[in-house]
Amino acid sequence: MTVLPSIAQRAAVIRALVHEPALTAASLVAPLFVMDGDGPPVEIASMPGVRRLNLADTLRECEGLAALGIRAVALFPVIASTHKDDAGSYARREDGLFPRILRAMKTALPQLTLIADVALDPYTTHGHDGLLDARGGVDNDATVARLADLAVLLAQAGAGVVAPSDMMDGRVRALRSALDAAGCEGTAILSYAAKFASAFYGPFREAVGSAQAAYLDKRTYQLDPANAREAVRDALLDVEEGADALMVKPAGAYLDILARLRERTTLPLAAYQVSGEYAQLHAAARAGWLDLARARDESLTAIRRAGADFILTYFAHSAATALRERAAV
Ligand code: PBG
Repeated sequence: MTVLPSIAQRAAVIRALVHEPALTAASLVAPLFVMDGDGPPVEIASMPGVRRLNLADTLRECEGLAALGIRAVALFPVIASTHKDDAGSYARREDGLFPRILRAMKTALPQLTLIADVALDPYTTHGHDGLLDARGGVDNDATVARLADLAVLLAQAGAGVVAPSDMMDGRVRALRSALDAAGCEGTAILSYAAKFASAFYGPFREAVGSAQAAYLDKRTYQLDPANAREAVRDALLDVEEGADALMVKPAGAYLDILARLRERTTLPLAAYQVSGEYAQLHAAARAGWLDLARARDESLTAIRRAGADFILTYFAHSAATALRERAAV
């Protein structure tokens, strides 16, 4: 018996008709690492093509991204170690690096959506996302209060979206009420709703300069990679607390979580293809073991297919460039 090809396999024209929604530049968000001063870009060894940029270079990069159809960037400040302390005090400063970046970007690029990461790890010497208590554990409630202050500071400086990446309990509700009380009702909350204690964050910690914390253990507040039901339950709590969109992180190894959440919420869903996912594709491509562009597009397509409306990815620039080139032929 001959097996006929399915409609999708038959011919290119039909394939195009039945192609399910996949990648568009508008569904990609570029994470950017912004540093103080006016120095040249700083390469990040474990993330080829990703660099820490000063403010002027960040603005130029964003213009390029916008021209490719990218509408949002996720910003991470690189805080000088001289500004770090145990309590992350620098996070309170209105003249701190992050508020200054946001004010300048909002003025220069008013159309671009600025997603500001809200967590204390860039500011603390120990690299944890929160304040530590006397026993060295993270003090949930004290941290939440600080995160709410930080979110208001960043919203007032120009962030259209604040993204708590800390995983403390109750922080979405605290952020929402602090933002509303400060007159920032229009600021959206993109919650890192299902964030796993993952080995795939290693290169990021080099990028933000908490390299000593590359193997930091965050298992008391990030999710156990084995726990799918807990992840869904936790994420749905963020919906009740007032999140405007939910994020799953990392993406590639957690597509099942995305798919489950897609069935359980009507909110927009995001996924973060994290530093280690980016690094492993690059490393294999450098060894000549896979085709980087195809692996990149396949990985991003899979994340969309699993249910993500938008994807934070270090491939944003190159994937959007490829989409543009393909559209032109
Ligand atoms: C922490 C934070 C992390 C990432 C984004 N925000 C790392 C962590 O939890 O230690 C990782 C992103 C990446 O790996 O690309 N607030």
